[in-house]
Amino acid sequence: DPTARNAAIRLPADLYAPERQNSRGLDLTDENTLRALAAVLPRSGIHDDTDGQPVVNPADHRDIVGRIAFTTPEQVDAAIGRAEDAGAGWSGTPPSVRAAILARAADALEADMPRLLGLIVREAGRSLPNAVAEVREAVDFLRYYGAQVAGSFRNETHRPLGPVACISPWNFPLAIFVGQVSAALAAGNTVLAKPAEETPLIARAAVRILHAAGVPPDALHLLPGAGDVGARLVGDRRVRGVVFTGSTDVARLIQRQLAARLNPDGTPVPLIAETGGQNALVVDSSALPEQVVADVLSSAFDSAGQRCSALRVLCLQDDGAERILTMLRGAMDELSVGNPDRLATDIGPVISAEAQARITAHIDTLRARGYRIHQAPLPPDCTHGTFVAPTIIEIPDIAVLDREIFGPVLHVVRFARKDMARVLRDINATGYALTFGVHSRIDDTIAALTSRAQAGNIYVNRNLVGAVVGVQPFGGHGLSGIGPKAGGPLYLRRLLSRCPVLDGA
Ligand code: NAD
Ligand code: ALA
Repeated sequence: DPTARNAAIRLPADLYAPERQNSRGLDLTDENTLRALAAVLPRSGIHDDTDGQPVVNPADHRDIVGRIAFTTPEQVDAAIGRAEDAGAGWSGTPPSVRAAILARAADALEADMPRLLGLIVREAGRSLPNAVAEVREAVDFLRYYGAQVAGSFRNETHRPLGPVACISPWNFPLAIFVGQVSAALAAGNTVLAKPAEETPLIARAAVRILHAAGVPPDALHLLPGAGDVGARLVGDRRVRGVVFTGSTDVARLIQRQLAARLNPDGTPVPLIAETGGQNALVVDSSALPEQVVADVLSSAFDSAGQRCSALRVLCLQDDGAERILTMLRGAMDELSVGNPDRLATDIGPVISAEAQARITAHIDTLRARGYRIHQAPLPPDCTHGTFVAPTIIEIPDIAVLDREIFGPVLHVVRFARKDMARVLRDINATGYALTFGVHSRIDDTIAALTSRAQAGNIYVNRNLVGAVVGVQPFGGHGLSGIGPKAGGPLYLRRLLSRCPVLDGA
């Protein structure tokens, strides 16, 4: 019962940062804005390093977006030492000053929007509207966590953890990277930031902006590299907390590694882990088909399905299912798949050849079992990148799926009205608990499903993606993660070793 849950937790009003406003982003219906963006998108002023690992555009592998040197084990060790030494200076900086620095970084991100958009589009293959949403979300995180410490923490003594490792994925290469880092910094920790190996360039741009805004160089270190860099950080006793977003498998490895040690005060090393989902939407026969189709398209295929929140399993009540599927197939065929350097592109590439092979193998396996499949057409100019056609597969039940498929693949399960409770039990039985949705015009159905669904974020008669910082705190439990929700009032608490304002809550 969400009402009872909310009533049980009383937090200081300041923690909701009520004076703060979310970033406005860009108006993509404005002709002048679109013309200006069209000019900067193809090449957005990236100064290539001459050596280091090449970072390749997933939409066109002939395009080397930039180069970056991966961090050596010696450099990781040295960075942790410097972050430790910088701890007293940064945690002694008044919360209002830390907040002002983060606010300056937020302003700088907004001012640098066209260059950053170009970088996100080329490095991560995200569409332009997705890239705009990323910059907005990054700006919102900076202002939200800053406003929290400037408000609630201003007269309180709170003790940060010390050096914190922030390990992030490629699918929100700016927003999640900045979200983790800004929370840890706002709380007064120093930060060792390990971006995904696929998207280190946008992370480097963000770190330069944060340093220019006033974060001392040794309070924030960028450590580009593969998983071994993350594992080295997690294993180091000087690292006092870990913020991780990525796969459930890697979260398990990190948790095992952290279980082997304690922080100097004898407490477990705090871990926030935001991981995958097997997200479902239940649609009954009273739902509006046109709205269902629009919301399913954005939930399942936007960002080429590469959102942790994305819809993976659409559960359709038998009555009306065929009509919705016919409309959905028609709408899918109209999606524009291709290089997101074109403003008209709806669906860009998947991140890598490995991801493409994994998703394609999954589709082939289910095809070989004889399940009904529909794929949208892939245009011929997709051959230079790693594209997967948006796909719908009808399966007998959700138990057919033993893992998250991180791409533009939507599974459909049909059910009879009398079996709705069983369908929800099957969804809960996956063990994931990230997003869940219901489309219905019957209040009792909505109440029955939403009160029993195991999910961090539950949506009614809308899509499942695009949670807004400070308004819709985001995160799950079970196989989908541990720790407080990002962009919510409790997140910073996990990044402190003591916080009187919250300890009493
Ligand atoms: P991933 O787990 O492969 O990698 C994430 C990060 O962990 C990368 O920086 C990687 O280098 C690092 N890493 C890899 N091995 C490591 C190890 N042993 N120790 C420490 N760090 C290590 O995930 P990904 O493919 O980059 O991202 C996609 C996954 O992220 C999906 O499962 C998606 O659902 C999830 N995700 C979750 C959320 C959320 O908020 N719940 C948001 C975005 C993405
Ligand atoms: N916060 C992101 C969303 O809601 C993952 O889509």
